[in-house]
Amino acid sequence: MDLKRMAALRAVEEIRDGDIVGLGTGSTTHHFIVELGRRVREEELEVMGVPTSYQSMFLAAESGIGVTSLAEHDVDVAVDGADEVDPQLNLIKGGGAAHTLEKIVDSSAGRFIVIVDESKLVDRLGAFPLPVEVIPAACRPVMIRLESMGATVTLRSCEGKDGPVVTDNGNFVLDASFGAIDDPAGLEVDLNSIPGVVENGIFAGLADMVIVGTAGGVEVLRP
Ligand code: A5P
Repeated sequence: MDLKRMAALRAVEEIRDGDIVGLGTGSTTHHFIVELGRRVREEELEVMGVPTSYQSMFLAAESGIGVTSLAEHDVDVAVDGADEVDPQLNLIKGGGAAHTLEKIVDSSAGRFIVIVDESKLVDRLGAFPLPVEVIPAACRPVMIRLESMGATVTLRSCEGKDGPVVTDNGNFVLDASFGAIDDPAGLEVDLNSIPGVVENGIFAGLADMVIVGTAGGVEVLRP
């Protein structure tokens, strides 16, 4: 079985009837949302989802999961993917440019469960360029500031669209390669103090559980 799907199926077992569930974004969470939808329909569960992106919102609706928001409900449990996970369970997220809303939903949840395949486990964060969402008007000064902190920075663009990627919040994403990150919690705070930065992709100390799909089966990591 696909290792991302394996982790996602294990996470679905954590969901109880009546839960408000934070729905992460990405290919791993895609499996989770589809499978949660199957359980909701077959077991007639009273579960609602708080999506972290338009992608997850549309998929939830397609899968038969009612959608709500943080304006109406607290989140009992959030399930989300990651781009890197270190041994302390610090994360890099934002490969899909959804990390701002993901951090809002994941950090507000009673429990935050991360689902990954084993390729995402690293000794130290930083091989994956760190996504930093910026207000468009602040793009150039923030790039210069990140470079002065030692990063190599690119403005994210994607095939099929001229110009930069625009996030669900109407902002741009800078991908900042710092190399190995010694102090994820410190860098997370420092980056968010730069004027014009909306949110960065370090999630330090947030995960309550990481479910890893490996060739040998599912492994569960806790802080
Ligand atoms: C979305 O912006 C990201 O934070 C994703 O959660 C992360 O990139 C993991 O994505 P995959 O599950 O597709 O690997």
